[in-house]
Amino acid sequence: MCGIIGYIGKKQAYPIIINGLKKMEYRGYDSYGICVLNGDDVFLKRKVGRISEESSENGCEGFISIGHSRWATTGGVSEKNAHPQEYNQFYVVHNGIIENYKELKEELTLKGHIFSSDTDTEVIAHLISEEFKGNLEDATKKALKRIIGSYGIAVISPKDKGKIVVAKLSSPIILGITDDGYIVASDPSAVINYTKQIVTLDDNEIAILKEDGYTISKDKKIETIDWESDAVDKGVYEHFMLKEIMEEPKVIESAIQGRLLEDNVKLGGLELPKERLKKTDKIYLIGCGTGYYASKVGEYLMEEIGMVDAEAHMGSEIRYRDVRLNPNQTAIFVSQSGETADNLACLKKMKEAKVLSLGVTNVIGSTQTRETEGGVYTRCGPEIAVASTKAFIGQITVLLMIALFLGRQRGLEEGKAKEIITELKNISKKGEIVLSEAEEIKKIAEKYSQYKNFFFIGRKFNYPIAMEGALKLKEISYVHAEGVTGGELKHGPLALIDENCPTIAICPKDSVYDKMLSNIEEVKARKGKVIAIATRGDKKIKEIADDVIYIPETLECLTPLLSAMPLHLFAYFFALALGKDIDKPRNLAKSVTVE
Ligand code: M6R
Repeated sequence: MCGIIGYIGKKQAYPIIINGLKKMEYRGYDSYGICVLNGDDVFLKRKVGRISEESSENGCEGFISIGHSRWATTGGVSEKNAHPQEYNQFYVVHNGIIENYKELKEELTLKGHIFSSDTDTEVIAHLISEEFKGNLEDATKKALKRIIGSYGIAVISPKDKGKIVVAKLSSPIILGITDDGYIVASDPSAVINYTKQIVTLDDNEIAILKEDGYTISKDKKIETIDWESDAVDKGVYEHFMLKEIMEEPKVIESAIQGRLLEDNVKLGGLELPKERLKKTDKIYLIGCGTGYYASKVGEYLMEEIGMVDAEAHMGSEIRYRDVRLNPNQTAIFVSQSGETADNLACLKKMKEAKVLSLGVTNVIGSTQTRETEGGVYTRCGPEIAVASTKAFIGQITVLLMIALFLGRQRGLEEGKAKEIITELKNISKKGEIVLSEAEEIKKIAEKYSQYKNFFFIGRKFNYPIAMEGALKLKEISYVHAEGVTGGELKHGPLALIDENCPTIAICPKDSVYDKMLSNIEEVKARKGKVIAIATRGDKKIKEIADDVIYIPETLECLTPLLSAMPLHLFAYFFALALGKDIDKPRNLAKSVTVE
């Protein structure tokens, strides 16, 4: 939820920290702070608000610094609760939650400690102070032994100069290696402008960074991130969300590149688990939010193309259910960040039951990629806007390829596989056609921007797309929107339809087209307005719907890729018309690392 960063090296630290925090602001944006050490001098700044306005110029001298962008969990949004938290000249930035902080605070208060914030993080600084005998890493190690919860922390102190101590448990930490020093950060977006060489810390590891080197308990592989540095800039776009939607066709290209054969796919991350996958008789697809909706599309893909039973679940639910797990099953975790706590908790459960675990992940080196036994990267590049768009497209593309792989293991006809692969090669061009209609979609979004309630309906592959369209609209424009199957409409939701509640109907020419037409008629009969997403050339739909957004014709299993794009644009332009804070919607954070 929060972003932590630190720098030690030969350059002035202040601008590096401020720029890094700006890149990570999407992780948390209610307050921020920075601490710079310069010999015995300490500069500490904590502020409520957005860091975007902060200049990296008017800082202070110093080559060691830590910083933080906060999404409040324990303790309200205030200057005193912003990080770095400090006690007795020990400065700490923290991402995660200390579950036993109240007990620790009580114990320390009895010993005479005075607390100045309402945060859980402050206890870390107090514990370090208690344990400090001249060596910061020893004190930090001892302090962490007392803590129950999750953390990614960076600690500095003028009492043990020349180092940053970093530790991690269930909260991401990477280390960027530059020519002049080291940057520690919650994610690669903060380091990408300085280096592509990173080391990822594992749980319970502690790193000590000094100007001329770093030590971690064991030797670690240096990985290269293949993100371009301009990928974390808005470029010509007003918002990251629009930039990321416009990248969707490119994301499909990048996800399939080098992975398609004539009648099969070649996915490096499935090579090792290949034989176990052959024996798998059930696939669980697990995700949260948009990751769950991609999983839901995956469920249909696994059944129809993968020829295997599949169930999509929300990470936050399946972990509490008594599902019968066994080693002949596979769990595929679908996540942009690879750090979603609900998924990771579920991953633990799956591993305990010896279910084969795979990840469909975007962020390289994330916990999900390291904890799963195999998997496939979506290769979307960094996604900055809180509303997930291009990652969704990447996830569906990868799930389709996994379905093809499983299908070919299970007797999916060669001809069918070839047909899908041929169309998959064309689909990004068709996506470009959809996005070229952006101005038209904008007009439609503006026309409906005064409505306060929406239904999104779809069936089969496009039922999850209806839910995705509704989620996108509600999270960035704050209007109420619900995604339901066309079939369920008459079982209840229809009661809400009237002239004030428009319906967006995803209705391409597919096996459920006629049924969708009937649903549209049901809405029209209740005076509801209908915006249809339909296949180019469909004249019939034009006669019934109030507005139509056309998508090119494609195979049924590929329609979700094309139908999601106009819904992403619709949500974007709708929120734009309302003047909302599109990239950083209220109450939300990009990466949800608490359960
Ligand atoms: O990083 P993840 O893909 O695991 O994130 C899952 C959800 O938190 C995320 O998709 C969320 O629902 C987005 N804000 C949706 O736009």
